[in-house]
Amino acid sequence: MAGFVDVHSHVVFGVDDGAHSLDHAVELLTEARDTGTRLIFATPHIVPPYHGWNASQPRIARIRRHFAALRDRAPSGIEVRLGYEVTARPHRLRAGDDIARFRLEGTELVLMDGPQAAPWVGDSTMERLVRRIRAEGLTPILAHPERRASWRREPPDPGFAERMKAAGALLQVDASGLTGADGPNTDVEARRLLAEGLIDLIGSDGHGSRSPARLDVARTMAAEVVGDAAATRLVDGSALKL
Ligand SMILES: [Fe+2]
Repeated sequence: MAGFVDVHSHVVFGVDDGAHSLDHAVELLTEARDTGTRLIFATPHIVPPYHGWNASQPRIARIRRHFAALRDRAPSGIEVRLGYEVTARPHRLRAGDDIARFRLEGTELVLMDGPQAAPWVGDSTMERLVRRIRAEGLTPILAHPERRASWRREPPDPGFAERMKAAGALLQVDASGLTGADGPNTDVEARRLLAEGLIDLIGSDGHGSRSPARLDVARTMAAEVVGDAAATRLVDGSALKL
């Protein structure tokens, strides 16, 4: 087994709703390694505006400092790289804003936070950010499209994933979407998207107990839908060319 590549996790401690301490973050990395992950991207949440984004900004400096501490303590057998999970606020993007700053380290990919309570039906926020990222020669990965159809209280939007795919995003289902830990019906939608061939990647979106930073269980569940070989391609870095 070549090992899994996880494009989405919240293992930079103390900067968002993920790992709460360095020890906790090391525990998450150790669990990831022990369950087959060889490369994990730490993707803390980033919310625009972006024009003030630079290494001297307190939040960015803190993310980099905590990431460096974590990389120093990472257990052997797993590589950790820095990325971000970018919230879609395309109206706050300026013409000169450089989205490449938010790439997953060593790739031409940008991870976008997917639907939570927004967008609403008819809201093109996420499609616009997908197009902007593509216009800069990068490839967007849209996280957890399965939530759009079934999570929260707003009316379902069953065509959301299809629209994002058509706009040019890779689609990344959450492990916790597949296992059912992300709420009722999200697992049903995740399986539908898999069965229809719309999903490019599985990411852990690992935060801790509700969503551990591991891909093994979700890979097995995906194999029930798409078969073993295709499920492996969703977690082995094939979509990233890694
Ligand atoms: Fe996330």
